[in-house]
Amino acid sequence: MTYRIAPSILSADFARLGQEVQSVIAAGADWIHFDVMDNHYVPNLTFGPMVCQALKPHAKTAAGQAVPIDVHLMVQPVDALAAAFAQAGADLISFHPDASGHVHRSIQAIKAQGVQAGLVFNPAQPLDALDWVIEDIDLILIMSVNPGFGGQGFIDSALRKVEDARRRIRASGKDIRLEVDGGIKVDNIRRVADAGADTFVAGSAIFGKPDYKAVVDQMRAALAA
Ligand code: DX5
Ligand code: ZN
Repeated sequence: MTYRIAPSILSADFARLGQEVQSVIAAGADWIHFDVMDNHYVPNLTFGPMVCQALKPHAKTAAGQAVPIDVHLMVQPVDALAAAFAQAGADLISFHPDASGHVHRSIQAIKAQGVQAGLVFNPAQPLDALDWVIEDIDLILIMSVNPGFGGQGFIDSALRKVEDARRRIRASGKDIRLEVDGGIKVDNIRRVADAGADTFVAGSAIFGKPDYKAVVDQMRAALAA
């Protein structure tokens, strides 16, 4: 299993975002997780496509290799902003099915831009939409907190949902990444992996510590144990 760690810049220093992206990539980040909030679908407001575009040149390793920007849309409606983020350099765009009136159409709109598409499920939301669109997506993102804020506690029922999502991915026979978002720390990342996740968002756990690399290394050690 190839595990990926996707630091969420929601907990980074917004006054130095470009440097923060570079620092966390130097620390070993596999993806940059970009949390877009609209103060409508969720009760908070963050950043839009112009910030994504400005950060794109910073999303590469010292050797010049591009690091994917993983855009998590917590916005309603979805389609116009998804297209704007595709233009702004997003590599993956995920949205909440309950934020879109036409989930299949939103997925197609993202893929038409040549970007990978993901579906995000809130803690109390069933995976039913996957019955109809799992063939069309590249990523499933399970929320282990209610969306809107960093630094919240991990909701344990997410583990059952991750297990369910892993079963569905296996049955589909497709190569779909399974990402978990919210409350992930060094001391619970192994449990999340054991439930079937392969990609881990972590905001406050990484940006809340002075040494990002130490946290990423500890997470990898926990995953390898
Ligand atoms: C919450 C966001 C998360 C958030 C996670 O709505 O989707 O990506 O940054 O933050 P932590 O890791 O602090 O729970
Ligand atoms: Zn997120």
